Amino acid sequence: MTSQDAVHELKRRSAEKAVEMVTSGMIVGLGTGSTAKLAVDAIGRRQREEGLKIVGIPTSEVTATQAKSLGIPLADFSTIERVDLTIDGADAVRLGTLDLIKGLGGALLREKIVASVSARMVVIVDGTKLATPFGGKVPVPVEVVRFGWQSTHRKLAGLGATPVLRLGVDGQPFVTDGGNYIVDCHFGAIVEPAALENALSGLVGVVETGLFVDLATDVIVARDGGIDVFTRD
Ligand code: A5P
Repeated sequence: MTSQDAVHELKRRSAEKAVEMVTSGMIVGLGTGSTAKLAVDAIGRRQREEGLKIVGIPTSEVTATQAKSLGIPLADFSTIERVDLTIDGADAVRLGTLDLIKGLGGALLREKIVASVSARMVVIVDGTKLATPFGGKVPVPVEVVRFGWQSTHRKLAGLGATPVLRLGVDGQPFVTDGGNYIVDCHFGAIVEPAALENALSGLVGVVETGLFVDLATDVIVARDGGIDVFTRD
């Protein structure tokens, strides 16, 4: 097995463990990214094999397309006020507080909107996402409006970040589902995530940040030695 296959297998185990928490009748937030994709697959399989009945709220167009292809019924916030359980991945997890960095997949805005109304947010990761220090190697993705992005970029640098405008494979700025740009902000070790999130959110031109503070309720970590579930008090 290649190391890539091994990580995929850990992601699958973490995803399937989370999907065991899903029961019929739930409104389920469907995350975005390679690990969340495996969770959506597992929900589709439980629908087919066990008759599981849920309604999904997708956190990106990509996830909506996947869910539709699996026949998972979808809704939006015109009819739904609260989400029972959201299952999503993360780019970095701070154990203890369960603060997260999210958005390397570009879906942080919808992911945070869905997480913010979820009774439970279950985060599924392999052990690589626990690397310390928190934020050491993983930038904080910040979604910014396109107008004046260069000015916002300078303001982000003023907060101590090394900001990098995200580009797509075509070399053009990456555009989110919301039609915005993303600036990946390298801060190095993040000691006070809540304070940093507040500072970033206070900048004109910032739409949302990939720092998720006080949102995750559970983190499922799959490693070679087994699966650990961390729950926030
Ligand atoms: C998507 O915008 C992200 O927040 C993802 O949840 C995050 O990047 C984790 O993705 P992977 O499961 O692919 O590592």
